[in-house]
Amino acid sequence: AAAEPTKAEKKEFTYSTMTMCYPQLGAESDWRTANTASFKETAGELGVRLIFSDAQQKQENQISAMRACIQQGVDIIALPPVVEDGWDAVLQEAKDAGIPVIIVDRSVKADKSMYAAHIGSNMVQEGEKAGNEMNKLLPDGGKIVELSGTTGSGAATGRAEGFRKTLNKNIEIIDSQTGNFTRAEGKPVMEAFLKKYGKDIKGAFIHNDDMAIGAIEAIKAAGFKPGDIKIVSVDGTRGGFQAMVDGWVQADVECNPLLGPQTMELALNILNGKPFDAETLTKEEVYYPDKAAELLPSRKY
Ligand code: AHR
Repeated sequence: AAAEPTKAEKKEFTYSTMTMCYPQLGAESDWRTANTASFKETAGELGVRLIFSDAQQKQENQISAMRACIQQGVDIIALPPVVEDGWDAVLQEAKDAGIPVIIVDRSVKADKSMYAAHIGSNMVQEGEKAGNEMNKLLPDGGKIVELSGTTGSGAATGRAEGFRKTLNKNIEIIDSQTGNFTRAEGKPVMEAFLKKYGKDIKGAFIHNDDMAIGAIEAIKAAGFKPGDIKIVSVDGTRGGFQAMVDGWVQADVECNPLLGPQTMELALNILNGKPFDAETLTKEEVYYPDKAAELLPSRKY
């Protein structure tokens, strides 16, 4: 892609002269904590001035933080959008101010001309991987539940879509509720599922490891043993790996939060009018219990 006309035309940027705004969406999960740390640590190492804020999972807070950054005249904004819709006005404001925006992690539903680039995971593909794993775990089919991420987020929508696309016809999703990507909400959602469907539940697709950890507490409390309910989770955090070691999670689809270094490099290229990729997808694996104990010590998040 070609860079938009930016301040780059006036000066050559280096890491230590670049100011990046990062209106983080929240601190809902271990994934998010690792993502925040990646941006802060990379900025510290490279000398980038990072304006960081935490929107507590509220889009209006992210928009206010972006507006404050635009007012301050930051060089670039890296936005991890909590939901997909509703960004047009503030993206237009950034554009009018000549401040390029990189969409980080989740996607936005906005015309591609409204932002410079996107870097993150292919959420639909993550859902497809999860669907394949569930097919392998339940070859004879069965009823399953879904603990979904934040409603309206690209992560939840994409994973749900990919999962459904891939799932064998003999596997039925009997219920799907959001747990907002948090442990605190994952537990009561699973409790309610167990109360309603009991032993009919043969599997659970859980959109992140934090919700899986909350759900496992509920499954344990209801008297189930590891493996009674086949769990496919997403993220590949240390907590997810531990749950595989303990036998509760049968497959964990990786979602990489360590996006700081690549985003800052991308930012510099955009600002300096150098060639850059408008879409950067992170490489991710699927992990299983057999290697979990061996790999756990080297997991970075
Ligand atoms: O957008 C990435 C998702 O957001 C991660 O899967 C989840 O843990 C986080 O909250």
